[in-house]
Amino acid sequence: MSAICSWVKDTAFSFFSQSKEISFQDMEEVRQLAEITGKVLIVYKDDVFDVTKYLSDHPGGKEILMLANGKVVDKIFDKYHYPLGDAPKIMKKFKIGYLSPDWYLKQKERVKPV
Ligand code: HEM
Repeated sequence: MSAICSWVKDTAFSFFSQSKEISFQDMEEVRQLAEITGKVLIVYKDDVFDVTKYLSDHPGGKEILMLANGKVVDKIFDKYHYPLGDAPKIMKKFKIGYLSPDWYLKQKERVKPV
C-alpha cells in the first residue's frame, strides 16, 4: 500500500470512529480529509475542527464556514469573534485533531487566511 493510501485509511478510521485525535502534517492533509469525507474542516491556532454539524447553528451563517473549508481561519475568526463570547467553548466540541509542530514553524501557509 502506498504511503498516501495508508495515511488516508488510518486517518479516515480515526475520524469516523473518533477513537483518537488526528495529527496532520500540513494543510494538504486537512484538505484531503475534507475532500474524502465531504466534511467542513477548519484550522484555528493549529487545532483542526470539524464544523459540519455546526453549520446550521452558526450565528454567522453556514456559507462563511463552508468558504473556510480546508483553510486557516485565525485572522478572520479573531475579527468576528471579538470580544470572545461563546465561540471558544462551543469549538471544543468540534475539535478532531491538530497540525504537527513542524507545520507550526512553516508560517507561509498562514499568510492566506480565508
Ligand atoms: C467552530 C468554529 C466557530 C464557532 C464555534 C463560532 C461561533 C460563533 C458564535 C457563538 C457567534 C455569535 C457571536 C459570538 O458569540 O461571538 C459567531 C458569529 C460569527 N461568526 Fe463564528 N464561529 C466559528 C467559526 C467561524 C469562522 C471560521 C468564521 C469565518 C470564516 C466565522 C464568522 C462569523 C461571523 C461573520 C459571525 C457574525 C458576527 C456578527 O454578526 O457580528 N465563524 N460565531
